[in-house]
Amino acid sequence: QTELKQNVADAAVQFALPFLAPDVILGVGTGSTVDLFIDALAPYKDRFRAAASSSERSSARMASLGIEVLDLNQVATMPLYIDGADEVDHALNMIKGGGGALTREKIVASVAERFICIVDETKRVQTLGRFPLPVEVIPMAREVVARRLVELGGTPKLREGFLTDNGCQILDVSGLSITAPAEFEALVNNIPGVVCCGLFALAGADIVLMSTQEGVRQFVK
Ligand code: A5P
Repeated sequence: QTELKQNVADAAVQFALPFLAPDVILGVGTGSTVDLFIDALAPYKDRFRAAASSSERSSARMASLGIEVLDLNQVATMPLYIDGADEVDHALNMIKGGGGALTREKIVASVAERFICIVDETKRVQTLGRFPLPVEVIPMAREVVARRLVELGGTPKLREGFLTDNGCQILDVSGLSITAPAEFEALVNNIPGVVCCGLFALAGADIVLMSTQEGVRQFVK
């Protein structure tokens, strides 16, 4: 699987190259696939201005490789946001947040013109939900949100010993079969106490680069 991740990380750099220019800011996500992307991007760091990042983890990795990282408040537009996913369906809806960075990922992605999702073929599913849906919650609302998620058919489990970069907790919700992703995303996001859920359907990926044994395939929305 590491080889598949490396292949798609390299393909993402090739995809990004035509967008690089001295004033360009790139949006960069979080995860093991993105780590490989950051490493592969580093040799081109003089061809673009800076990056905006969805996590302390990615910011630290980029800074260590000499890629400047800007606070998102300093960024008005980005041509690309590049990030991994935990599941992708045929309509390019995604579940994200296995690494716990879902909220910042959704925020940074919202500033970019295009979301480029980089995955290997093990992430492809017919119906989202086999991977437990991460839901970031304000800690004092954890139990009430958990009860609402049970009413919606899920089995929430607190991610023990984990706090997000925003100081919040994550409920990982298993047992879901998400047949209407955009509607379900809105429903979960509307529960008071939910910061954000890991469904990316209202704004899914624009392009998925998917690493397969036969090479990297490109899916366009
Ligand atoms: C981070 O919060 C996630 O959304 C990641 O994008 C996702 O977990 C993919 O990670 P890997 O590339 O490590 O599989």
